[in-house]
Amino acid sequence: MKFLDLPALLSASGRVRLPGSKSISNRVLLLAALSDGETEVLDLLVSDDTQRMLEALQTLGIGVTPLGGENWLIRGGGGSFPIKSASLFLGNAGTAFRPLTAALALVGGDYTLTGVARMHERPIGDLVDSMRQLGAEIIYLGNEGFPPLQLKPVSIQQGGVVRVRGDVSSQFLTGLLMALPLTGQTVVVEVVGELISKPYIEITLATMARFGVQVERDGWQRFTVLAGSRYVSPGRIYVEGDASSASYFLALGAIGGGPVRVEGVGRNSIQGDVRFAEALAKMGAEIELGSNWMEARASKSGLVAVDLDCNHIPDAAMTLATTALFAKGTTILRNIASWRVKETDRIAAMATELRKLGAVVEEGEDFIRITPANLKPAAIDTYDDHRMAMCFSLAAFGTPLRINDPKCVAKTFPDYFERFAAVTKAAPVIAIDGPSASGKGTVAARVATALGYAYLDSGALYRLTALAARQAAVDWADETAVAAIAAELNVEFSGGDIRLNGELVGDAIRTEELSVGASKVAALPAVREALLFRQRVFNKAPGLIGDGRDMGSVVFPRAVLKVFLTASAEARAERRYKQLIEKGFSANLADLLLDLKQRDERDSQRSVAPLRQEADAKLLDTTHLTIEQAVNQVLEWSREALQ
Ligand code: DC
Repeated sequence: MKFLDLPALLSASGRVRLPGSKSISNRVLLLAALSDGETEVLDLLVSDDTQRMLEALQTLGIGVTPLGGENWLIRGGGGSFPIKSASLFLGNAGTAFRPLTAALALVGGDYTLTGVARMHERPIGDLVDSMRQLGAEIIYLGNEGFPPLQLKPVSIQQGGVVRVRGDVSSQFLTGLLMALPLTGQTVVVEVVGELISKPYIEITLATMARFGVQVERDGWQRFTVLAGSRYVSPGRIYVEGDASSASYFLALGAIGGGPVRVEGVGRNSIQGDVRFAEALAKMGAEIELGSNWMEARASKSGLVAVDLDCNHIPDAAMTLATTALFAKGTTILRNIASWRVKETDRIAAMATELRKLGAVVEEGEDFIRITPANLKPAAIDTYDDHRMAMCFSLAAFGTPLRINDPKCVAKTFPDYFERFAAVTKAAPVIAIDGPSASGKGTVAARVATALGYAYLDSGALYRLTALAARQAAVDWADETAVAAIAAELNVEFSGGDIRLNGELVGDAIRTEELSVGASKVAALPAVREALLFRQRVFNKAPGLIGDGRDMGSVVFPRAVLKVFLTASAEARAERRYKQLIEKGFSANLADLLLDLKQRDERDSQRSVAPLRQEADAKLLDTTHLTIEQAVNQVLEWSREALQ
């Protein structure tokens, strides 16, 4: 899927069972592989990053058996890998790449580690330097300091003191610590520079402890792994829900009323990102915590901006950046330099995309400052970064928007958008489709007024495209040129008025000639594609009535009510005849009937989005109905659908 269009949201509430934590999943898999004995790993995250780790372990000769669902059996290698020469592809999974580098460098073997292009831009030099201090032989196959890497077989028997930088990525220290029991020696690790993302080190130490290795530590500066430390399987281990993934749903509850409850992490979690809940509470949300769940709801006073040091919640802090769009005042997130070396440069990406929505953003080396504004629709790029896609879904509380490449969420949360849809309520759409001159425009406009909803006359967009093409002397059959015009169409709908390039259009788009032109340009797939998002941005609170040919089938397939409104060709020709005469145009009934039949034919026979009654649409034949009767029927159906 190239993009996902999100309608404006009205509210959020419900429960979400979280997928397993990525950080814990990949640590548990590696330690289970390094253990003596078999480990049943339950509730593992099923995602790209864990898939890369599972594949790598299998390639290295570790027994990996699926037990169904999110459960796996890992047969440990007791501190070594059976396969001594292998090439591993690790995608963009930092939580697989760094620890595997450390472990493989110490067990001895001939290994090549590669990833996607972005992985090759993410630094690993500090970890390599540390491993070299222990005698590991590591060669850079590309740029100095970055993957891909080649590891040479060596026999490590060295203990002593190893220094590692802690201020670029905590994954270096994590990788090193998890690998050290493989040396069989006592090793002291000294952290150089201020250690960032400390909570992730807590996860590492807690997970190592579950596998029987206690690390002695002196603050955040010195860590000692004693000679004789060995990983032993705990037999069975449950992976906690992902606390970073929890952040999106908690924020939904805080912005959209709530309560939204996430299950799988809570007060007793070992993940630092549960402290996102504190940050959200600081912004004014009401938070409740249980041992294995968390819940957020909006407070009466709404959300307010915060000025926060985010070192302790680097990943979840991204969620604060888009939550800030709904907080009063300017939010400042500090100490987030690590964002720059993640899946993408997240500070730059966040600033660029927030600005597209209209927010005022200032970015610095290690901070971002966000002032909200009235949000405007935009197409958000996600930079192959799952968190960008998930964070920006929150913006739908302010505007309909497009998320490009939404599938990137598969890195940690493959069914994120399904869960998102399950706990959010979108501004409803009532779709009214039907042939020309069936009266659906009049009915739709009246229903919109009665319900206080916005009204989209989608046919007008095709008519305007035909008009703009005519003005630019572009042939209606020239698909590329007409699509370019449709994409750039400068139109403004306000009340009943339509402006094209600032000029009132009036009845100029209602002539028979332009009816034919609209029908012709509407048959061009590229034109329909160009107008799709433009139509969807009408889907705002409190709701929308859309009138056209493909409202229910293509543009708003999730419409709460779909009506197929029609009348006999003769009745429609007569209505059109009266309309034209009233407006002072000359008209001939026989010609009109012929024209109408040809247009019906073209609209229903075209290959893209043809006019037809959808299986889930209600048929309303108005041949013998007055406008009032038709309006009342649609209103009655609407009330039922909106209940
Ligand atoms: O509803 P209308 O008569 O104003 O529409 C003008 C033309 O635009 C009509 O021939 C079909 C086309 N159209 C379409 O293909 N899809 C829509 N959703 C609306 C109109």
